[in-house]
Formats: sequence, structure tokens, C-alpha cells
Amino acid sequence: MTDASPTAPRLRSRAWFDDPTNADMTALYLERYMNFGLGLEELQSGKPIIGIAQTGSDLSPCNRHHIVLADRLRDGIREAGGIAIEFPVHPIQETGKRPTAGLDRNLAYLGLVELLFGYPLDGVVLTIGCDKTTPACLMAAATVNIPAIALSVGPMLNGWHKGERTGSGTIVWKAREMLAAGEIDYKGFIKLVASSAPSTGYCNTMGTATTMNSLAEALGMSLPGSAAIPAPYRDRQECAYKTGLQIVEMVHADRKPSDVMTRSAFVNAIRVNSAIGGSTNAPIHLNAIARHLNVDLDIEDWQEHGRDVPLLVNLQPAGEYLGEDYYRAGGVPAVVAQLMGQGLIEDALTVNGRTMAENCADAVIEDERVIRRFDDPIKPAAGFSVLRGNLFDSAVMKLSVINDEFRQRYLSDPADPNAFEGPVIVFDGPEDYHHRIDDPDLGATDRTLLIMRGAGPIGYPGAAEVVNMRAPLHLLQAGVHALPCIGDGRQSGTSGSPSILNASPEAAAGGGLALLRTGDRVRIDLNTGEANVLLSDAELAQRRADLDAQGGYDYPASQTPWQEMQRAVVGQLGTGAVLEPAVEYQRLAQTRG
Ligand code: FES
Ligand code: MG
Repeated sequence: MTDASPTAPRLRSRAWFDDPTNADMTALYLERYMNFGLGLEELQSGKPIIGIAQTGSDLSPCNRHHIVLADRLRDGIREAGGIAIEFPVHPIQETGKRPTAGLDRNLAYLGLVELLFGYPLDGVVLTIGCDKTTPACLMAAATVNIPAIALSVGPMLNGWHKGERTGSGTIVWKAREMLAAGEIDYKGFIKLVASSAPSTGYCNTMGTATTMNSLAEALGMSLPGSAAIPAPYRDRQECAYKTGLQIVEMVHADRKPSDVMTRSAFVNAIRVNSAIGGSTNAPIHLNAIARHLNVDLDIEDWQEHGRDVPLLVNLQPAGEYLGEDYYRAGGVPAVVAQLMGQGLIEDALTVNGRTMAENCADAVIEDERVIRRFDDPIKPAAGFSVLRGNLFDSAVMKLSVINDEFRQRYLSDPADPNAFEGPVIVFDGPEDYHHRIDDPDLGATDRTLLIMRGAGPIGYPGAAEVVNMRAPLHLLQAGVHALPCIGDGRQSGTSGSPSILNASPEAAAGGGLALLRTGDRVRIDLNTGEANVLLSDAELAQRRADLDAQGGYDYPASQTPWQEMQRAVVGQLGTGAVLEPAVEYQRLAQTRG
């Protein structure tokens, strides 16, 4: 199959490889791509050149299996009549990068945009997986808007320890508590945590990776049924082959990201996110992708379309199971089919040229312990509440992880079962929290709210995943497992902590959290969506004036050039934490037409 059809658009790679009006440059482009064995005839045959945006490397273990999958991708691309060109994407390893992998999403995005725009590529396969690799790739594809398909690397196999499933990340919170309580030692701690990672692939819990790979499928950007396939399964290899076939067809059909990732697709993804119990990082990343497409989507859409959707997928941290179980139970299509039954899936095209509804119409749940029916959910209303008040303009709270212990301790006032109030302890950044959390003079009780500030995209470049703080040791020993946390940073998708996070604007950008002091009382009302410190306007104004006189909220200096550059131009978590000039120039370009 070549672009022989008379109606097919001329492939963009022809401007590099076959332009008789610019023989000088054409010859220069050709000779160097021929130097490793591609023939002149091949390069001038009119076959689409398909990029494989390779995110796997030794530095990025979660995505490393893509190096293997690339062989099957190439088979598919070649079989369908395309020519594969593989190239590296700036690695982003969630668990390897200091100070935080969050810093690298926008850097990988920028780099990939330049590659997709500046080289002879007619279409691209985005090899997604570990948390930020998915949004970075989709944001770049959105910006350049050439035909693109995402291939997930897939989750690791289930982890096991003493007959129980151990899930990525989630086991850390439990192991931390066991270590703090003296039930295991340092070596036992590491062994327990490592048991959750028995194979190649990404986190096997419903953390940010499984969330974002599921949402890439829900957006229509990967083949139906592909997100949940565990990395080592043979089905994953077959999926790579089919993805290779599909991208060549997409180039011939000129099916672009803007045709697939419409507002309807994002609304579908928001609903799927609630049903799967998706990560609180999802609003940041999806809003960022939407902004690079000029699709109208904001944080309020998450509450409006997502909050009341029930939790159907029983995966850790909100539930019991792990990635292999999710796949066997039917994965994303089974979830979508349940939402379709309620009229909750809008008409949206997917990479294979069919709609989401057409792809998922026949999908069934194979195991109702893992994926529940819509009329028999694990929890009702499992999406995010979007909160606001005098502490911030927006912050999100994941309702699906509010557990019974928390409900009884905080939300048991029969007069107002959805509101809670307590004194706060304020930490300035993760180091401050680590130093002081077990300080006997901290003064935390089982009614305390923990505040983490200085952890947003400016205060802690990239925004730290630190809002989910554990309770002090003496409370853990007394059986209090979690205190509510509020912060301007992010939270790991694998955490089950009842936190209010992504507070925007952050303290470092003048947000109200900068005015808080330990001992202030904060009231959260889930009925009205308000979060307020109980102080008079006059007191807040005085504190604001004092802070301004000191030159604003203080935060540590940048450690690298990129930290400094990103700090100058990054937006807040509530609007996707994008590089604002990258969105602005696109908006202007579209206005100019
Ligand atoms: Fe890479 Fe979780 S650390 S997916
Ligand atoms: Mg994470």
C-alpha cells in the first residue's frame, strides 16, 4: 500500500526526499539517510516515513521494553508499506529523576515537537508508558498535528509477597508504616517494595501510568483494548505489530490528532478516569494536552463531567487488584461499554477510523470482581471534587480514596457529614516535612490537617509529588493511618491518601497557602466545594502585606538551567502546568488563520 491514490495528499517527507525543484537539498537529505542502508529507491518510492518516538532506554526502565516492541512495530510498518525511522525521546523515569520527573514532561515535549516538525516524518508511533511519557508525547503530537498513534508498553506483571498482591507505589505507603512501626527493618522494607516489580513494564497499580495509558485509549489515540495488556504478554507484541499497520493506514487517511482528540474525546476520557479510579495527575496532563490542541477544557469540566461517575475498576490503590487482573477482566473497552450503557460516551473518532462506541459496543466484563457493572459499582461518585476558597482558586480531591476510617473520624458529624475542620500544621517543601514529621513537639492530633506548600511548578520545579504525607509516628502507632493533607504540589497516583492537591495558584505564585500559619483552622466543605482558612479578611490582608514586604514566598534556587527557564514560563497545575508561551503562540497562529 503506497500513497498512489489520486486523492491522497502529498506526503510531507517528499519535501525532503523527492523534490526535483530543490535538487541540492534533496540530494543532501537523501545521501545521509542512505548511509546506513536505506536505498534510494525505497526513500523515493512514495512510501510513508513513520517515526518511532522511542521513550525506552536503560535510564527509563518502565519504558525499556519498547526497545523490544520496536521490532514488531517495524514489522507492521513495513508490512503495510511504510518505512520506519526510530529516534530517541528525552527519557522520563518517574522513580529515577531528581528532583522530580515532573520537570521533564515539558522538556521532552519541547524536544519531541522539534523532532516531529523538523524531520521527514509522515506519521509517528508514540511509545508511551511511565507517567509523564504519555502526556509529553501526546502534547507534542497535538502541537505538530501529524498522524500519530500511541503504543503503550503495558504494566508489569502482578507483584506478590507472602500470597498477597503487592502493587507498585501503593506497597510503599504500607511498607513505610510497617517500617515506622518496627514491624520490618531496612532490608525487609526494600524486599517488600521490590516484590511489586517482578517484570518489565510500568506500575501495575492504577497509578498515573495505568491511568494515562487508559486515558490515551479513551481519547482514541491507541488501538482499542491495547492499554491494559501487560508488558511481557505475547499479546503486547502482537499489539505493537497491529499498531505499526495502523499508523500507515492513518497516514494515507490523513487522520490527525486534532481529528481524534476533540472535546468529546476529552469528556469521554474524564468519565473513564472516574470509572477506573484514575490518578489526580490526570487533570494536569489532559488539560495540558487539550491546551496544545486549542480544545476548550478546564478544571471545572472534571467536576462537571467526572465527579458523579462511579468507580468500576477494583485496582489498587482504591481497590484490591492489579494490572494483569485489569487486562483479563476486559480493560478499557469493558469500562467504556458500561459507560455507553448510561449514555456517558460521546461520539468520537479513534485512530482506527471507527468511533469509540463502534470499537467498544461488544466489549464485556470477563471478571466482575475486577471490573464491576455500572449498576453495582465499588463506590458511587468516584471522580474529583474541585475545591476553591481563600486558600486557592482551584484544587482537586479524589473522592474514590476516602476510606471508612477517614469518613468516621472526620465526616461523622450527622449535621454535616461532608464537612470537616481542624487546626493545620504547615510544612514548607518536602525537606521540611521529612525533618519535622516525627518531631515530638509537632503537636499533631488525629484532627490535624497537614499543609504542604512550596511544592508547585515554580516553588519546586516541576511540582513535587509530596502532598500525600504520612501521619506522625505516634499517630500511626495509635492506629491513625492518614491525616487529610492540602498542598500546592502533586500526589503520586499510587497513593490512597485523602488529599486536596494541585492547589493553584501555588504559594510561590502568590496563592493563599503562603499566608497560612501553623495553628490556623481550615474548614473543608465538600457540599459547597469550599476550602477556607477561618481568618478575617483584615487578618489575611495584613498577612499579605507582611509577606509582600518580605519579597513574597521564599523558595530554593534553581539547580539547573532548565529549572530556571521553566520557572519563568510555566503555568499552574490547575491549567495543565504547560509552558505558557508554547500555548500562546499556537493560539495566535490559529487566530491569524
Ligand atoms: Fe514508571 Fe510508575 S514509575 S510507571
Ligand atoms: Mg507519579
